[in-house]
Amino acid sequence: MMISETMAAKLNQQVKEEFFSYWTYLAMAYRFESIGLKGFAKWYQLQADEEKGHALKIAGYLIEQGADVKLTALDNPKTDYASAQEIVQVTVEHEKKITRLIHELMALANKEDDFATASFLGWFVDEQVEEVSIAQQLLDMVKLASDKVQLMLMENRIFTLRE
Ligand SMILES: [Fe+2]
Ligand SMILES: [Fe+2]
Repeated sequence: MMISETMAAKLNQQVKEEFFSYWTYLAMAYRFESIGLKGFAKWYQLQADEEKGHALKIAGYLIEQGADVKLTALDNPKTDYASAQEIVQVTVEHEKKITRLIHELMALANKEDDFATASFLGWFVDEQVEEVSIAQQLLDMVKLASDKVQLMLMENRIFTLRE
């Protein structure tokens, strides 16, 4: 194995966090389906797919470095959202939390002089800047809507944030 035990354990934990992000956004997508906002549901399906991609990317890196991938059980995602705005607010907070975790991993890589992992994590540092920014922009948009009709009218425009 080319990375430390500690790093392998922390990266495995991040695989779990990314799968939990997938699970969380999928639950949000289904919540949007049930409140009749299909555009938002589609947006969150795409977001969920990205998170699954992140999990697989880190798992792939562990394998490349000769470490074991250890998948573990996920907690139940939150499902009882009261409004579109609450969902997007939680998304912003979630992405900020993931950013902190990625920064902790980067700090560990730096501490261990693990240049390969630091380089690998660089992509995630950049990705998180984008993810927090997009979530914040989505929240700003959703806050402008005062009712469901306005949210529905907004549904085509939210995809421009992903371009
Ligand atoms: Fe992610
Ligand atoms: Fe994310």
